[in-house]
Amino acid sequence: MAVPFISEVKRTHTCGQLTAANVGEEVVLFGWVHNRRDLGGAVFIDLRDRDGLTQVVFEPNHAEAHETAGHLRLEYCIGIKGKVVSRGRNANPNLKTGEIEIKATDLTIFNRSEPTPFLVEDKVSTSEEKRLAYRYLDLRRGPLQHTLMTRSKMNALTRSYMVGNGFMELETPFMGKYTPGGARNFLVPSRINPGKFYALAESPQLYKQLFMVAGFDRYFQIVKCFRDEDLRVDRQPEFTQIDVEMSFVTQDDIFTMIEGLLKKLWGEVLGIDIPTPFMRMDFYESMAKYGNDKPDLRFGLEHVVLTDLIREHGEAGGVPMMWEAVQQKGIVKAMVVPAEKPLSRAESDKLEDFVKQAGAKGLARAKVNEAGEWTQSPLKTISPALRQAINAACNAKAGDLILFQFGRESLVHTVMANLRVHVAKKLGLIPEYGSGGQWKFLWVVNPPLFEYDEETNTWAAAHHAFTRPHDEDVQYLLTDPGRVKCHRYDVVLNGFEIGGGSIRLHDPKVQAEVFKALGIQDEEARAKFGFLLDALKYGAPPHGGLALGMDRLAMLLTGAESLRDVIPFPKSKTGTDLMTGAPGDVDEKQLREIHVRSVTPPQK
Ligand code: AMO
Repeated sequence: MAVPFISEVKRTHTCGQLTAANVGEEVVLFGWVHNRRDLGGAVFIDLRDRDGLTQVVFEPNHAEAHETAGHLRLEYCIGIKGKVVSRGRNANPNLKTGEIEIKATDLTIFNRSEPTPFLVEDKVSTSEEKRLAYRYLDLRRGPLQHTLMTRSKMNALTRSYMVGNGFMELETPFMGKYTPGGARNFLVPSRINPGKFYALAESPQLYKQLFMVAGFDRYFQIVKCFRDEDLRVDRQPEFTQIDVEMSFVTQDDIFTMIEGLLKKLWGEVLGIDIPTPFMRMDFYESMAKYGNDKPDLRFGLEHVVLTDLIREHGEAGGVPMMWEAVQQKGIVKAMVVPAEKPLSRAESDKLEDFVKQAGAKGLARAKVNEAGEWTQSPLKTISPALRQAINAACNAKAGDLILFQFGRESLVHTVMANLRVHVAKKLGLIPEYGSGGQWKFLWVVNPPLFEYDEETNTWAAAHHAFTRPHDEDVQYLLTDPGRVKCHRYDVVLNGFEIGGGSIRLHDPKVQAEVFKALGIQDEEARAKFGFLLDALKYGAPPHGGLALGMDRLAMLLTGAESLRDVIPFPKSKTGTDLMTGAPGDVDEKQLREIHVRSVTPPQK
């Protein structure tokens, strides 16, 4: 008689639970056929669920189950009932359940499976496109199951930590008003308000500040954010933040709270105790030494800024190109590849191609010999005095290779930052995931409030217009905006910005000056941020906060190479969902309803 699986006969264990302690028990397992071996008389399968694998044997003495087992194929979804027996000397030490197997008495097939487009196994060689198109099969694989379990655990740990520290989990709208600045927004046309658009929230920023005005004191949310940006390995158009805001705090209070959360995540997910407080570095120091504000501190290869040196030596330095760059307000930087970790001549040549891809014109270099002279260098006209000064500034010794960039400041920083990571990878200086000394947390602090936009020749808010300037710099807001530093901070791990935030402006007077410096007129400010400006007038408490990039944290915690590996249903590199086909076509009628006309025919 058929066993009434599910309705009456319930699952007793998962496929990762049974050990020698269960021998003799009668059990019921549900899962998928992971593999199958037909050994003449007996049929062996590994049954898989999210918890693991269990070996099940079907022998001829249970004729019906044995007969059905003959029809099993990979990925069939089945239920079995049977007895746990010891595998004795055949135990598989690599499997959690390897001490036992189940001698099945009953078997039911819940559902058959067509042959899958790729095998559901830990390592697949299938293209990522195919994996994304059949994401539900991809997600059956061990590593992705593990990753999503980690994410689930991260959510639970975050909630318990935040609630334990007096934070309220509050929701904010996804559909809001478009406000300029920051990332490009996705727009949603309003059907019932013809011609008007909502913007999908790029973050809950303004709302969380309003929670502080409303007196909620401590807010957090694990929240989806939407940004219409070009994608990279660490960027998705929809991503998740752990968003936090606190009233009556200093920057240090926020750091302590966030360090505690990261310590808990690393402790409970990886069993690793990360030391706190994290190191702090000034924004300008980070730019000088590493070329960006998210340095990977797991290796050295620090940059050396030579701009002043070149200026001091002037024309007499004998390197006209560097001298010209400095005269045109550019900078000169160097980086030393140490003699102990040499690059071959061919590898050094290839570095030139690498920097050109990053936008540089070329890569000057010099190999230092015993006498401190430069060989293999195009900088043949350099004066001995400047050469010695550069050697000394770079601490260069015989056998070292010095790499140079000069020109526009932002380009030199970016090229050198990329080069530093590229060379570190080539030289094997970056520790493997899972090895020691690999977690280098850092706060990057005291950045400028404004960035100069070279295209429009105007100052723009480097973060957003509601960041609090340092009190002592407020006097320069209108006279010398470039020197105003602010209470903004990023938390960085191994070359990734894992979070960022600021202490907010709650003083309407200073706020007005910031707008003025940004060239935003009162009316414009009202039109764009009126509701927040109004709110700040009604006894807004001093407040500040931060948002952590949950996907980036998950990527780093699991050693994944891309955000796509830690998001259940990610977008591809070109922003498409290869499984559902989004973004997709809509018909004319739908467009008419939302008062939108498309000027581009859909691309098939
Ligand atoms: P910010 O824009 O720095 O700050 O974002 C916070 C963190 O979110 C992550 N992140 C992303 N992750 C994946 N894909 C993306 N496209 C993406 N963009 C950002 C990063 C980043 O550090 N409202 C402010 C926070 C605040 O001031 O409190 C904000 O959104 O890890």
